[in-house]
Amino acid sequence: MKIQIVTICGSVRPGNYSNMALALAIDELKKDPKVEVTSIHLEDLDMPLPGLPAKKPEAIKAFQDSVSQATGVLLASPEYHGGISSPMKLAIDNLDFPSKLAGKPVSILGVAAGTIGAVKSSEQLRAICAHVGAVPLPLAVSIPHVHQVFDQNGHCQDPAMEALIRRSATSLLDYINNAVCPKLSLEAILREKESD
Ligand SMILES: Cc1cc2nc3c(=O)[nH]c(=O)nc-3n(C[C@H](O)[C@H](O)[C@H](O)COP(=O)(O)O)c2cc1C
Repeated sequence: MKIQIVTICGSVRPGNYSNMALALAIDELKKDPKVEVTSIHLEDLDMPLPGLPAKKPEAIKAFQDSVSQATGVLLASPEYHGGISSPMKLAIDNLDFPSKLAGKPVSILGVAAGTIGAVKSSEQLRAICAHVGAVPLPLAVSIPHVHQVFDQNGHCQDPAMEALIRRSATSLLDYINNAVCPKLSLEAILREKESD
């Protein structure tokens, strides 16, 4: 059975650091041959503000469908003014109400320029995910001084931080393999018995 992971990058800034961090997590995810990754880049979606019609309804529908079908989700957001980025919030608002994130395990990755890191935005993202019925995982990875952690080409200069970023991927797969997949298999067995 394939494990479908959707990643969402909460920065739309060209050359953004969130995507550099996410690239390491995606690299880690792809080490597992069972994993398929769908990367969402919010600048491609032209997302409407809540309550307004979508300019690209097919793109929004495809975004919602990919999250609906996901086994798990990895969210990467920069910290802006002590909170998550507005594109990340808008992305979550565009995942419908009730949310397509409901029931999904979510791994959280945050980047920030400052010393404190993305602690506040990660906690906020955790609260929003829990509110919409998702399952935010205990490990939220916060990257302080992100401008020093990555060079201009996206290469990580800090091996310890790289290991932590990669754990945002492995913790999601651990949860899926130990909690979600056994449950799905049991459901499949029960369905097989019912059809006998
Ligand atoms: C509007 C805005 C608000 C920001 N607020 C914070 C902040 O509260 N704390 C912090 O450490 N960095 C803050 N920063 C710096 C960003 O965290 C930093 O530029 C980071 O690289 C942004 O991520 P990105 O490169 O993925 O866009 C802010 C940047 C912007 C543009």
